[in-house]
Amino acid sequence: LKNPEGSLSRAAMTGSKLAQQMKDEKNSLQKEQGRLLRKHDESGAALDAILKKDKKRQEATEDVISQWRRKQKANPKANKLSKMSIPETRKTLPIYSMRAELVSAVRDNQFLVIVGETGSGKTTQIVQYMYEEGIMLRDGQEKLIGCTQPRRVAAVSVAARVAEEMGCKVGQKVGYTIRFEDMTSADTKIKYMTDGILQREALLDPAMLKYLLIMLDEAHERTIATDVLFTLLKDAASKNPSLKVIVTSATLDSEKFSHFFNDCPVIKIPGRTFPVKIDFSREPEPDYLAAALDCVMQIHVAEPDGDILVFLTGQEEIETGFDALTNRMKKLGGAVPELLIVPVYAALPSELQAKVFEPAPEGMRKVILATNIAETSITIDGVKYVVDPGFVKINAYDPKLGMDSLVVSPISQAQANQRSGRAGRTGPGKCYRLYTEAAFHNEMLPNTIPEIQRQNLSATILMLKAMGIHDLMNFGFMDPPPPQTMANALHELYTLDALDDNGYLTGIGRKMADFPMEPALAKTVLASVDHGCASEILTIVAMLSVQTVFYRPKEKQAAADQRKQRFHSIHGDHLTYLNVYRAWELSGRSSRWCKDNFIYERSMKRAYDVRGQLMAIMARFKLSVLSNDNNNTIRRAFCSGFFRNLARRDPQDGVYNTLFDQTPVHLHPSLALFGKSVEYVIYHTLLLTTKEYMHCSTAIDPRWLPELAPKFFRKSDPANLSDRQKREKIVPLFNKYAENQDAWRLSAQV
Ligand code: CDP
Ligand code: MG
Repeated sequence: LKNPEGSLSRAAMTGSKLAQQMKDEKNSLQKEQGRLLRKHDESGAALDAILKKDKKRQEATEDVISQWRRKQKANPKANKLSKMSIPETRKTLPIYSMRAELVSAVRDNQFLVIVGETGSGKTTQIVQYMYEEGIMLRDGQEKLIGCTQPRRVAAVSVAARVAEEMGCKVGQKVGYTIRFEDMTSADTKIKYMTDGILQREALLDPAMLKYLLIMLDEAHERTIATDVLFTLLKDAASKNPSLKVIVTSATLDSEKFSHFFNDCPVIKIPGRTFPVKIDFSREPEPDYLAAALDCVMQIHVAEPDGDILVFLTGQEEIETGFDALTNRMKKLGGAVPELLIVPVYAALPSELQAKVFEPAPEGMRKVILATNIAETSITIDGVKYVVDPGFVKINAYDPKLGMDSLVVSPISQAQANQRSGRAGRTGPGKCYRLYTEAAFHNEMLPNTIPEIQRQNLSATILMLKAMGIHDLMNFGFMDPPPPQTMANALHELYTLDALDDNGYLTGIGRKMADFPMEPALAKTVLASVDHGCASEILTIVAMLSVQTVFYRPKEKQAAADQRKQRFHSIHGDHLTYLNVYRAWELSGRSSRWCKDNFIYERSMKRAYDVRGQLMAIMARFKLSVLSNDNNNTIRRAFCSGFFRNLARRDPQDGVYNTLFDQTPVHLHPSLALFGKSVEYVIYHTLLLTTKEYMHCSTAIDPRWLPELAPKFFRKSDPANLSDRQKREKIVPLFNKYAENQDAWRLSAQV
C-alpha cells in the first residue's frame, strides 16, 4: 500500500473511525478487509462460507441459462454473433491485419514482444497463424507450439475456443495441460498450458527441445512462474537456437520485456477501441460491494442497452453479489427489464464457463460479476458498462510471519485502466470507478507488484535448485525477490531436509521436486514411504487438493452435520478425509452414497483422479506405496512435512498459538477437533477471515517432533529454560531472523 491512511484503504475497512483507532495499520487493515468480505454473512460462519460449495447458486444460474436458452430457441435471431462463421469472425479481429508481419517477424527473430489490447486476438490467433504457416516444421520433425497462461481457466477455455476454430476436439490438434489434467495427445500441435506446467517441464527438458515456439502469454500479470520462465527460456534459447520465444502483454510495459530479451523487436497490434467515459466517485465508498450493486441497479434502470461488467475480488463476494442482485430483481418484479446475472471466477465449473461468452438474448441485459480474470485473461463481448470498485484479492506472503494469506488490496493504475478499457470494445462505453480521482492518483501504484516480490518462494527455489541452479543471486530475475523472502524459503527448505548446510540440494530435496505440490506436502509423501503408509497419505493429499468435500445445504444443515460427524476422526481432519474416501470406495464410488452423505461427488471423483496421478508419479520413481492405517504412523508422516504449522492450546483461554511466532490461530466449529481441547495440533493452511482460522488440523504428540524435524525442534535442557518454556518443553531450534540470514549467506555463497 502506498498510503495506508488514504481513502481507498479506508474504503476497504468499514469507515474512517476504525482507521483512526488503528494501532497496527497493516494488521488491522488485513483483518478489516477480511471482515468486509464477510460483512454480508453476519452469522460469523466465515470459514463455513468458504468451505461451502456453490451448488444452489449453480442451480440458480443454470435455471436462468436454460430459461434464456428457451427464449433463444423461440427467437433465434436474437443471437447475432453466432451467425458469423468462424473464418469471418477470425478476420474481424484487429490482429488479422498484422498476420504477415507477425509471421515474418517470428521467422526473423528468436525473441519477439507483442503488445495488444485485450480481445485483439493474441491468445487465440498468433499460434494458429504460426501453425498454418508450418513454422513448427524443423529438421523434418514436427515440433510443438506451446502457449502459457497464468490461469487454469484461461488455458482450458482458450484451448476449447481454438479447437473449435480449427474444427477439432480438444486433445487432438489443440490441447491443454494444467496440473493434474492433461488433455493432449500424440496428435497435439498446439498446446495451451499454465505457466506452472511449463516451468515444471523445464526440469526435465531445460533446452525445451519439444518446442519450436513458446508464447509466454499475459506476461503483464507477472506471475512467479512466468517470471521464472523469462529467465529459463532466455537460457533455453541460447542452448536451442531453433527455439522461438514470443512474449505477449496487454499493457505498455513492453520496453522492459524487450530490453530483457536482448532488445528484441516489439510489435504493437493496433487497438480498435472506442472512447470510455470515466466516472469517479466524489466521496470514498465505505462499502465497495454495496456500492457496486447499487451502481449496477442504477445503470440497469437508467442507462441504455449494453452489458455490465463488475469487478469483485473473489468467488464468495461474487456469490453474495449474485444473491443480492437476484433478490433485488425479484422484489422489483416486472417493473424493470430482466437482468441475466453471470458469475465468472477461476473455480467456476467448466460447464458454466462456456456460457459466460454467449451473448444475452434480445431485450435482456447481462451483468457479469467477475474477478480480475476478466481484466485481460478472458474477453467477454458486448460489455458497455464497467463497474470498478478498485480492489483485487492477492496472495501475499508476509516474510516476517513466514505465512501466505489472501488479502484484498487496491489495484494499480494500470489495472484500473485495463478494467475501464473493457467497456470500449464494441462501442463507446462508460466506466464507474467507485473511488475518488485523488485516490487513483495518490493511492494506487502505477503498476502491479510482480508476484515474485510478494509470495512464498519455497516451491520455486526448490525447483530451481533441482535444475542445478544454485547461485540464486545471479539467476537473472527480471525483478529479483526481496532477500528476506528468499532467505525464508531457503530456511524452510533447509528444515525440510531438502537443502543441506551449504544450501545444496539433498537427495530428499531432489525427490521432493518431482512432486507438483508445495514442498511440505511433497516431504510428507516421501516420509510416508519410509513410514509404510503412502497409500493413506496419497488419499489424504488427494482429498486436500480438492476444494470442498462436505456439502451443507441451508435447509438441511443439521442432517448434513450429523452425517459429517460420522466421518469425524478423534485425531482430526486429515484422518476424517481418509474415512470419507474409504467409505466412498466401499460404496463402489456410488453417486447415491454421495447424495445420502452430503458429499460432493465431483470432489470425490477429482480426488480419485488426483490420487491416480500421484500413484503414477510414485511408480515412475519406484517409490513403494504400502498401506498402514495406524493413525500414529499417518500423523507422524504429516509432522515430517508440516512441523512449522504447529500450534499449542493455551490452557487458560483455550486459544491456539503458533509455536513459530505465537500468532493466535483458531479452530473453526466445522473442524473435527473443535471443542476437543487437544493441546498440540498441526494445520494444513491458515485462512485469514474474521480471524486466523486453521484449515484442516490434526492432533499430534509433541514428543515426535525432535525426531521428525531435528533441524527445527530440539528437546531442551530443563536447566536452561524459562518457566514458560518449561511448560512447552519443545522449543523451535532457531531464532528465525538470525538463522535465516545465515541460511541466506550460505546459500548465496557470498
Ligand atoms: O488474447 P487477446 O486478449 O488479444 O484475444 P483472444 O483471447 O485471442 O480473443 C479474441 C476473440 O476471440 C475475443 O474477442 C473473443 O470474442 C473470442 N474468444 C471467444 O469467443 N472465446 C474464448 N474462450 C476466447 C476468445
Ligand atoms: Mg489473451
